[in-house]
Formats: sequence, structure tokens, C-alpha cells
Amino acid sequence: MSFISTSAPGKCILFGEHAVVYGHPAVAVAIDQRISVKIQPSQTGMWLLDGSALNMKRNPHIKGLIDKLWPASEGAPPLSIHIEGNIPRASGLGSSAALSVAFAGALRLARGRWVETSDATIQQQWAEGFGANVSTTNAYDNQRGFFSIKPTSELFHIKGEKAVDADENAILAHSVEAAAQNGRASPMDSSTCSHGEVIIISDQIEDDIDYLYRRDLKMPEGERFWHIHELNLDKKPDDVYLVIGSTGISAPTSKQVAKVANMLQKNPSRIEEIETIGKIARRGIEALRNGDYEAVGRTMSENQIMLKSIGVSSPELDNLIKAAAPTSLGAKLTGAGGGGCMVALTKNPKLTSDAIELAGGRTLISKLGSPGMKIDSVENITIWTIN
Ligand code: PMV
Repeated sequence: MSFISTSAPGKCILFGEHAVVYGHPAVAVAIDQRISVKIQPSQTGMWLLDGSALNMKRNPHIKGLIDKLWPASEGAPPLSIHIEGNIPRASGLGSSAALSVAFAGALRLARGRWVETSDATIQQQWAEGFGANVSTTNAYDNQRGFFSIKPTSELFHIKGEKAVDADENAILAHSVEAAAQNGRASPMDSSTCSHGEVIIISDQIEDDIDYLYRRDLKMPEGERFWHIHELNLDKKPDDVYLVIGSTGISAPTSKQVAKVANMLQKNPSRIEEIETIGKIARRGIEALRNGDYEAVGRTMSENQIMLKSIGVSSPELDNLIKAAAPTSLGAKLTGAGGGGCMVALTKNPKLTSDAIELAGGRTLISKLGSPGMKIDSVENITIWTIN
């Protein structure tokens, strides 16, 4: 029996939300909570999700990835999919991106990749696939879906881990997120859930931070682009934790982003507050690089003052942040605000978590920066390949 099981982490934003919409850098970290996806051939002749018929309309991310990587028109067989995990849904922690990244990785693993040289190591040597450096395929083209190739005797088929690519998983996850959200999605979730650890996104190439790639997306409001970087934490702390506290209140990101846009339209001089968040994010990046977690915490709290000032916090978030403060190095809302989650950086995860729960929040504890998409177990690797 063939099966493949992969997983990807959720994310939370440490610095720079909202200001990133205006071109400043934002810092996201992968958290320990993950979504796992297991795929195997379906015994019933139809697509299954957790044992029941897969409803493609209700699962647009899954459908989008099937269209791109597993086309029935090319003979790809239906699969049975199982999803489990501990990332709460719709709380700004990247659950849909984590699912998309893990599923994209599982499908790629299940079909391998046709490449032009037997030891293909870069995207330019691929005969098929999606990525920042693949010019022949456009991951964002939802009309075209699958990009068909005819393998020839000159091509090589690679299998296993080397067929899987973090950029491909991220770009496909971004494309299906955008398609599911009326064309609007920043690549922050997809890149962080795919690459893991710490991701920095900005509208400029940031000095001295490892550069990954550029993403371009046509949104209803016009073309947007982002530069994605990864920050390697040399001095990863073993005594510092993130405690994420959920208010249980859902506040759509689009509404929160519109609130800031309205504020700036009414009073353009308030762009200074957005610029201050940008400066704070840059200081946060510096503190992370120096392994100075006291400074990381202080900078998070400063970021919160500004988020509150631009009106995206809420009494519930403020309440959880206040509860976390005495036992933590710093705390702020994470994501769009208005509800959703806060995050505290702490050396006393149990105490901080208890304090947040006592104040009415539900908590998760994570180390800082988890690995990205992983192949967890595999039996009989190639389920189907194009030929
Ligand atoms: O709610 P989240 O985690 O998807 O974060 C939203 C972050 C914003 O800066 C508010 C919006 C954006 O597109 O970057």
C-alpha cells in the first residue's frame, strides 16, 4: 500500500503587521503547531477527505492544488486524504497555508519530478514545476491549471525528498490562498509555513538578510510585489518561548486593513505611525539577529503601543496582553488584530500561559521558529507520474 505523510507549521507575526501593507518589513515565525496531510490511493474510485467524499467547492485550496499537480485529464488517480493537526482555524495562525504547503509537498512527492539533468539541483534544470525561477509555468494562472509536459528519453525522473522544493510548495500555496480570497493574499503565510524558522517580507531587498525570492501578484487593486528573506537564528534560545493567546473573536483581516486605510485617508499625517512600526520592525530584526531576546520582547511591546494607536487592537487583546506582561519579555497582538490572537515572548511559558487563560484566552505554547514542511513518513513513493 502506498502512502505519503507530510506536515507544515503554522505561523505568527512578531513585528510589522499592517505596516507591511505600506512597504515596511514584517517578521513571521513558524510555530510548533502543525497540520499533517496523509495521501494514499483511494479504494473507492473517488476522492475522499477523512473518509467521506471530497467536496471540491468547500475545499478550494485542495482543489486548486489537485488542478495544478494531480490532473485527472492526464490520468492521475483519485486519492484518499487525511488531515489532522493542532493549528486553530481562522485565527491568523496560517492553518490554510500550512494545509496547502503540506498537500502540495505530498502531491509532488507522490509524482516525482521530470528534470533535464540527472542531478538537477536548481529550478532552471527542471522540465516541469512551479517556482520563482521557473519562467515556463505561472503558478497564479488559475485558468490554465496544469502545465502539461511530454517526458522524452532525454529527461530524468527524480523521486523522494529531492523532488520536493520549498519555493514550489510556497508559490502553489500562495496561488491557492489568493484564489480562495478573491485574489488577495500576502505570501507571508505560505512562505513561512513552507520554509519554516523566521521569514522577513518587505517591498525592498533588505541588507544583510538571506534573500529567497520575489513574489508578484495581480490583485483587484493592482499589481503588488514582495521580497521574501529568511533569517537564520544563529543563537537559537532554548529557554525562550512564544505563548499565543486567542481571544476567540474572529475579525477578518480585510476589515482591519480597510480600517487602517480609512484612517490614513482621513488623516494622511498618521502615516508617521506606520513608519514608526517599520522602524520598530527593523529594530526587532536586529535584536533577533543579535540573539538579544530581552530586546526582542521590549520591541514587541513597543510595536503593540503603535498597533493600539492605529486602532487595530481591541479590549479583549489588550486584556490578554496585560495579563501576560508581568511574566513575559514582551507581548503584542499578532496578525490583523481586532480579535484573533496575541503573542507573548517569555521565559516562563507555564506562568504566562496560566495568566492568559485566567484572563479568558486560550493558549498555545511554541518555541521560536520551527522547521518548515517535512516529509513525515512514506511507503512506496511514486503513486502516479505523468508519462
Ligand atoms: O491575519 P494575518 O495573520 O493573515 O495577518 C495579516 C497581516 C496584515 O499585515 C494585517 C495584512 C497583510 O496582508 O499583510
